[in-house]
Amino acid sequence: MMIRANIKGCGSYLPERIVTNDQLAERVDTSDEWIRQRTGIRHRYVAGENELTSDLATKAALAALEHAGIDATEIDLIVCATATPDETFPATATVVQRNLGVTKGAAFDLQAVCSGFVYGLSVVDSLLKTGQARTALLIGAETFSRILDWEDRSTCVLFGDGAGAIVLQAEEGTGDITDSGILNTHIYSDGRYHDALYVDGGPSSTGTAGFLRMEGKEVFRQAVSRMPEAIDTALQTSGLSPSDIDWLVPHQANIRIIEAMGKKLKLPKDRVVVTVDKHANTSAASIPLALTEAVYDGRIKRGDIVMMAAMGGGFTWGSALLRW
Ligand code: UT7
Repeated sequence: MMIRANIKGCGSYLPERIVTNDQLAERVDTSDEWIRQRTGIRHRYVAGENELTSDLATKAALAALEHAGIDATEIDLIVCATATPDETFPATATVVQRNLGVTKGAAFDLQAVCSGFVYGLSVVDSLLKTGQARTALLIGAETFSRILDWEDRSTCVLFGDGAGAIVLQAEEGTGDITDSGILNTHIYSDGRYHDALYVDGGPSSTGTAGFLRMEGKEVFRQAVSRMPEAIDTALQTSGLSPSDIDWLVPHQANIRIIEAMGKKLKLPKDRVVVTVDKHANTSAASIPLALTEAVYDGRIKRGDIVMMAAMGGGFTWGSALLRW
């Protein structure tokens, strides 16, 4: 017997406003053709002026609770993966906690940028397994539009806003691969790569929020090797092979990175969930947004083996293997 973190439901939220590539081409020297060819992105969602990360997070959380059929009063852990919190402190997760009327347990933010959701799965899995919580909300929520330099065409076309959430509950499993829930997680970081992807501001450095800076090529190069490595480790740990993967739900940064991963795993294209075309890169929100789409449209079914992998600033990266 062992405790498993079972996923009881998921949900997501996107802001109302869609910004197309053509609209961006009116602001910076770019084109719909360049953006689609190099990234696969067709449009992205951008939060309203008064819409905060916590607002997106709360809406995604409510959708996930409804989907799970679980009342907010049962929640005793809220983890919000975000690199764009409402304020420097307190944690955006505590704002969500207040919005949901939850008054027990713990709520905190987790900062691993685009790897935030995979890191969050690892942290929540551990807390549920050690009995420190029973019913958890894991949210990935971002308003990257607020930290983009809208004059920099090499970054401003790549990101979007949004949120996704899942509800997890500690349940008894057998401990083997037939269990549903999180099967294993592997998380990594290497701070030597700071300069390849960072924000040039913050409370302790400039006192301003700063803007995202990225050496895209270096990130690309690392992403196409680190994520497959983390996936291999997940497969080895569980004794599975790539052909056992029913669905790959990768971080959504660039269609070329996603396709390269699918190819390395020899996965047919229709086993890879892609939303980067509609959402662009929503950092910690991208995996739960993609997951929710594929669960709601019936692709991902109970019992399916789902592999997640992400890579982001730090660098941080990792994988999470679960049975839906
Ligand atoms: O979530 C984790 C973080 N992000 C990622 O995983 C992103 C990883 N990187 C990438 O997705 C890609 O490297 C990018 C999409 C960012 C860039 O694609 P690329 O094929 O590596 O292009 P590049 O940076 O080599 O740029 C090629 C050309 C350059 O012009 P020159 O030097 O060849 O004359 C750029 O100045 O494209 C130019 N360029 C643009 N042109 C039109 C860069 N951005 C744009 C743009 N529109 N928006």
